[in-house]
Amino acid sequence: MSVSGRFAGHVVFITGASSGIGAALAREFARAGADVALTARRVERLERLAAELVAAGRRALVASADVTVDGDLERAVARTRAALGPIDVAVANAGFGVTGPVESLTLEDYRTQFETNVFGVLRTVYATLEDLKKTRGRLVIMGSVSGHVAVPGGSAYAMSKFAVRALAESLGHELVPHGVAVTLVSPGFVESEIRQVDNRGVWHPEPREPLPRRLVMPTARAARQIVRAVARRRRETVVTGHGKVAVFLQRHAPWLVAWGIRRFATRGRGAPRSAARTKGRV
Ligand SMILES: NC(=O)c1ccc[n+]([C@@H]2O[C@H](COP(=O)([O-])OP(=O)(O)OC[C@H]3O[C@@H](n4cnc5c(N)ncnc54)[C@H](OP(=O)(O)O)[C@@H]3O)[C@@H](O)[C@H]2O)c1
Repeated sequence: MSVSGRFAGHVVFITGASSGIGAALAREFARAGADVALTARRVERLERLAAELVAAGRRALVASADVTVDGDLERAVARTRAALGPIDVAVANAGFGVTGPVESLTLEDYRTQFETNVFGVLRTVYATLEDLKKTRGRLVIMGSVSGHVAVPGGSAYAMSKFAVRALAESLGHELVPHGVAVTLVSPGFVESEIRQVDNRGVWHPEPREPLPRRLVMPTARAARQIVRAVARRRRETVVTGHGKVAVFLQRHAPWLVAWGIRRFATRGRGAPRSAARTKGRV
């Protein structure tokens, strides 16, 4: 199914639109005809992206919003409504990855992870729900393959993504009477800057050791797949081939996944890692 023109006249609100998957989704929704509200903390990046979308004939609004700050998203949504109209599609995408074995992390590390990846998603839901009910629109929640499979050193990130998977499931049922579709997006490795962000959420210009290229899906391709799934009001889309295999095996042969992780992923994972080092996880 081509999504060309599929979102013509629709207003799409995206958190974490300043890089990676969020920025690619903004381009893809705009290509499908939507006007786009771009939010994140790095406003200069959003301004550059907005200029690109406006040059392509779309309306684009830039609103600074930190998903960990109460009130930021409500203000961004009010500005979006005033400038573009009620929101048809809300994409709760902003996120990052805290990594390290449980013993090397603190309660504060888990709180930091949840404040962005879980409460940030909830803040986005609360800020946009009234509009989505009016427009009988679509809510997109960015999960991960880590919302299905937890690996050593990935407890904080996986816990946050398991949590939003549960949120998407409950909310999906609750919003049926209101005609709002909830799509959980569960990507495997997708090209982005997530591996340049440390455990405190601070971005570093130098990436962590790169993943094998063949495992990493280009961001634009991931965005095309996600927008197609949102157009079809799909309940979940798992992005990347390796991600689909991992989720399938976890559902049907969890013992095999556990064996594989113990066999291959636990080597050399015992040592705590410094929070100052750049980290990230899918
Ligand atoms: N790339 C992957 O392989 C992969 C796989 C599975 C799931 N995901 C998920 O995809 C989503 C997007 O990540 P990405 O891979 O595209 O990484 P990215 O390139 O690092 O983008 C992360 C985005 O989130 C924003 N963000 C982070 N903290 C924020 C906060 N407190 N308030 C507002 N915005 C915030 C960042 O903007 P500012 O810093 O400008 O605020 C940035 O725009 C995340 O939820 C991630 O968990 C990614």
